[in-house]
Amino acid sequence: MKIGIFGGGQLGRMMALAGYPFNLRFSFYEAAQDCPSAPLGQLYGDKDASQASLDAFIASADVFTYEFENIPVAWVEYIAAKKPVYPSVKSLAVSQNRINEKKLFQCLNIPAAAYHEVHNQADLTQAVAVLGLPLVIKTTMGGYDGKGQFVIRDATQVAQAWSELQAGAPLIAEAFISFERELSIIAVRSQTGETQCYPLAWNTHYQGILSHSIVPAPQVSPQIQAQAEQYITQILHELNHVGVLTLELFQTLSGLYANETAPRVHNSGHWSIEGAVCSQFENHMRAVAGLPLGVTDELRPSAMINIIGQHPNTAAILAIPETHLHLYGKTERAGRKLGHITVTASTYQALQTRIAQVAACLPNKMALLNH
Ligand SMILES: Nc1ncnc2c1ncn2[C@@H]1O[C@H](COP(=O)(O)OP(=O)(O)OP(=O)(O)O)[C@@H](O)[C@H]1O
Ligand SMILES: [Mg+2]
Repeated sequence: MKIGIFGGGQLGRMMALAGYPFNLRFSFYEAAQDCPSAPLGQLYGDKDASQASLDAFIASADVFTYEFENIPVAWVEYIAAKKPVYPSVKSLAVSQNRINEKKLFQCLNIPAAAYHEVHNQADLTQAVAVLGLPLVIKTTMGGYDGKGQFVIRDATQVAQAWSELQAGAPLIAEAFISFERELSIIAVRSQTGETQCYPLAWNTHYQGILSHSIVPAPQVSPQIQAQAEQYITQILHELNHVGVLTLELFQTLSGLYANETAPRVHNSGHWSIEGAVCSQFENHMRAVAGLPLGVTDELRPSAMINIIGQHPNTAAILAIPETHLHLYGKTERAGRKLGHITVTASTYQALQTRIAQVAACLPNKMALLNH
């Protein structure tokens, strides 16, 4: 079976690596010839996203999926009229728009930040009056790694926030959630409606980018894990989602709040390649190909550490026991995700020791141990 993947970044690359052993083959809709997925299949797509390139891509595969949610819904509708696409147009339309996401959380009674739609500066002033400060302003579509956001801490910043973000309007203003920590849950749903959930990940960001995840998140009660599983399972069924879905959460003193969803494999799930019985990538491929799902249990405590901006010394990383290096074939650039490292250990204490060893090898240390 041939799978067509929108996007040729590291997520597409790791999906393909997971699908090859059961004879899946791949094509990618991606204009950059040197993209991380290039060695794993035929590339389609041109800079102008021409109709001809889309048609050639559709002709190249049997089933379609995507590695990022910022693709036009109209394209996915166009493909869906000809060939199967998973996840569905509905999942894409909800996940790529923060207002749609908030409406979904509301409709399913999943706690989330109170919000206000913002179309002009007057709406923003009103949002401050209604929701109070601090207030997190985000573009409704297209944001990632904390881009397209402004935190208003003082009412005098309204005009500045509007002028910086107005090009991305409509905006969403969200009440600030005072969280204890950030968690995420990843789950997968098959074409027959079967679901499986991974253990919660504890995510730490640095300068707006995910720095590292520890899984299972330490000190998670069975109730919190069950609550997260209930929320994501509700979302999966509501969307009739097929494939992997991620739910980012804030853990607060009064329980879990939903932040956002991603209709795809997620950076906080990369640990699962070595740390789980069946990885998020393999499970996404299984779901898309109409195959039975794999077991999502963890094998042992794992940490995923992102490599950002500069490559580490490969031999130094691989000299650390129970450590795996994944490089994405990218060139160095500040703030760019170049790869990740997965560390596993039999206890959290041993995991901390290994994380410290990895941090010592990272050129920028990722501020891994300092925050
Ligand atoms: N309502 C909020 N209250 C407090 N902090 C928030 C709120 N919304 C977002 N943040 C902080 O900003 C970060 C980025 O926000 P969000 O996840 O919505 O954007 P993103 O650009 O899609 O990020 P990413 O691509 O890393 O997932 C969150 O991880 C969290 O630390
Ligand atoms: Mg996020």
